[in-house]
Amino acid sequence: MEGKIFIAGVMILCVVVGHAQEGYYSETIPAVHMEEKMTKLHFFLHDILSGQNPAVVQIAKANLPQNNSFASFGTLSATNDAMRVGVEPTSKLIGRAKGLYVLASQGQDDEMALVMYMDFGFTTGKFNGSSFVVCSRNPVMETQRELAVF
Ligand SMILES: *[C@@H]1O[C@H](CO)[C@@H](O)[C@H](O)[C@H]1NC(C)=O
Ligand SMILES: *[C@@H]1O[C@H](CO)[C@@H](O)[C@H](O)[C@H]1NC(C)=O
Repeated sequence: MEGKIFIAGVMILCVVVGHAQEGYYSETIPAVHMEEKMTKLHFFLHDILSGQNPAVVQIAKANLPQNNSFASFGTLSATNDAMRVGVEPTSKLIGRAKGLYVLASQGQDDEMALVMYMDFGFTTGKFNGSSFVVCSRNPVMETQRELAVF
């Protein structure tokens, strides 16, 4: 009995060493297709632009003349917005949205839009530790917007 266990141990070691020598992948197995589910998420993004603790800070700016009508084109900002259950700044915090905004409008003839990359990470409840990513154009002057979510 002890002998058999010892042999099995040696074999496992050989398999592991074999994979380590071969390279960067192990076995290929068929993907498990899970049933699709839908979850509706409701929360408010506290995108605070000013004050003592702004949630958005400018990190780079294009070298364009300041009298240019699209002088803000190319401005890049880092964000760390609270995700809360309500509009009040004291309402329950459920996560944080972290990422980047770039101002992408080229002036009067172009829509007022920024392009954003943001990771919305949950820090509480059923989805604690999970996140989704918004990587999309965001036409900020429109009251209703559709953004690409991954
Ligand atoms: C913007 O400023 C530059 C340099 O200060 C000047 O040469 C140019 O004429 C100005 N353009 C406009 C549209 O005012
Ligand atoms: C959320 O997950 C983190 C990391 O696993 C854990 O430390 C934390 O206690 C969890 N918070 C809640 C409210 O479940």
